[in-house]
Amino acid sequence: MSKASKPAPIGKFKKRVFSGVQPSGGLTLGNYLGAIKRFVQMQDDDFETIYCVVDLHAITVWQNPKILRQNSRELAASFIASGLDPTKSILFNQSAVPAHAQLGWVFNCVARMGWMQRMTQFKDKAGKNAQNASLGLFGYPALMAADILAYHATHVPVGDDQKQHLELTRDIAIKFNHDYEVDFFPITEPVIGGPAARVMSLRDGTKKMSKSDPSDLSRINMTDNSDLIANKIKKAKTDQHGLPSEPKGLEGRAEAQNLVSIYAALGNESIENVLKEIGGKQFSEFKPMLVERAIEVLSPISREMARLMQDIPQLDKLLDDGALKANLISEPILQKTFDIIGVR
Ligand code: AMP
Ligand code: TRP
Repeated sequence: MSKASKPAPIGKFKKRVFSGVQPSGGLTLGNYLGAIKRFVQMQDDDFETIYCVVDLHAITVWQNPKILRQNSRELAASFIASGLDPTKSILFNQSAVPAHAQLGWVFNCVARMGWMQRMTQFKDKAGKNAQNASLGLFGYPALMAADILAYHATHVPVGDDQKQHLELTRDIAIKFNHDYEVDFFPITEPVIGGPAARVMSLRDGTKKMSKSDPSDLSRINMTDNSDLIANKIKKAKTDQHGLPSEPKGLEGRAEAQNLVSIYAALGNESIENVLKEIGGKQFSEFKPMLVERAIEVLSPISREMARLMQDIPQLDKLLDDGALKANLISEPILQKTFDIIGVR
């Protein structure tokens, strides 16, 4: 068996979670249920947890500098408002810790063109005009691998859309370990799942809920007030059937599946349990239940976000403290990487 095909050597590594979200504005319910809520849950498990505002990823597409700075703080505020506890987790801005970009460069030299060309997110984001996309957008998954591996993170909670990038992260770790004949980088486990790994658009159950969708009715934003939330759910696309009592009855019904999944994830319930409760109801009865649950969960978060945004110096201090802690972990790993590859 070649070294490259050895099974995941995470055994010797400390259980450590890393994840990141881009501060590109307008966090959605998809980000919350697919990522942030699960970040918060993992800080109470048996993990060291590190969460990052990945501002260097955001600039792969041009950002207005003032708005980028505002969005980074807003994202940090939304993490904390959602329950991220800075005494339990490390929270910081990517650009404040040099190891990310430095290790990112090393991984640019490990990753292969062919691997990057297969990334579907690049194809989606670059669209028809790929020749005009930034080189950073193309190389982005190598920086993402560096984010994770600069901490020797063993587990990465993300939404379903990041699966391919995490496979690439594993490929980079395997190739590095193989090429330099070391067992240095862990083969990270993706943590994807739960009823809301992929929250879909409220207007089209086959499309991902996304901050970049032109229709605001397609998504619930973390800053939407109760009236907006109610209105968007009221207008959400459904079908003409009632709700089934078992998951099988949701098959082929993307919109129904999505609304039930959101309801389940907001209430920390399984889809099976939810259907036992709502099976047989019409959407006209179910939608008000969903509105109530969504408002109950989201309005305290948006209130707390607004409160945190009133004290920017405190928020910045918290992020700076996080960066110091993050640096203490990543700098020695970067130095050891340099040592392995024969630089510095
Ligand atoms: P992004 O906003 O693209 O930086 O995504 C941040 C995190 O939210 C990643 O872990 C994504 O996988 C997750 N995410 C984004 N949109 C959705 C969605 N519609 N459903 C589930 N997770 C999502
Ligand atoms: N690529 C992720 C996204 O678009 C964000 C991200 C950057 C990330 N670095 C990461 C997620 C490291 C997990 C781990 O959503």
